[in-house]
Amino acid sequence: MKRNAVYSLFIIAACITACSKSDTTPAPPPPIDPCAGITITPVATVTHTTTGLTQGTITVTSPIGSGFLYSIGGSGFQASTNFFNLPAGNYTLTAKNANNCSGTKTLTINGYGAKFFAVRTIINGYCGPCHLNGTINGNKNFDADIDVVNAWDRIKIRAVDGNPSFMPIAPNSPLTAIDKQKIVDWVNAGHRITD
Ligand code: HEC
Repeated sequence: MKRNAVYSLFIIAACITACSKSDTTPAPPPPIDPCAGITITPVATVTHTTTGLTQGTITVTSPIGSGFLYSIGGSGFQASTNFFNLPAGNYTLTAKNANNCSGTKTLTINGYGAKFFAVRTIINGYCGPCHLNGTINGNKNFDADIDVVNAWDRIKIRAVDGNPSFMPIAPNSPLTAIDKQKIVDWVNAGHRITD
């Protein structure tokens, strides 16, 4: 009995010595990346400006929601989805979520001639939905500036002369005399984007 007790003590002591030597520390788990699997692809609409002025706007349409912040140019993040009073140029829009996961999109604000800017504004205001956002009527869509430029003669004939009938059709038909004059002025100046 006594001998067994001594043996037991010995074994316990030996074990404490051996087992107290710590094994190699296990590697810490890899840091969790809060952005893993998250793709942020900003989407925005743009309105353009007369060259030399600051009439451009950028409006973020996606992603929106709590925690998202936006920046053009990488600093000065804001919660508002709207950027106003922008000059013509290229912009890098960044959207980031509450965990700082971000995505970017390059946008361009065009610089127009003042007369074309006036015509572009009339078309945006009165020629949709029939000729905007992908919709085609009478074989005409005016989303792209170049398509407005290429249709300058038909735009004048339909929206100013009303031949054979006025564009736009009711309820905004015809354009006001002031707006018709803006189209005439652009046509007479050379009907280019830069006029
Ligand atoms: C409510 C719908 C609607 C709106 C708004 C509208 N259009 Fe049209 N447009 C049509 C339809 C329908 C046609 C095809 C029938 C026709 O030519 O009359 C057409 C055809 C045209 C054509 C091609 C035919 C041609 O004669 O060369 C031009 C150019 C045109 N529209 C210009 C304009 C302009 C500029 C505006 C804005 C100032 C405008 N439209 C607004 C419906 C619309």
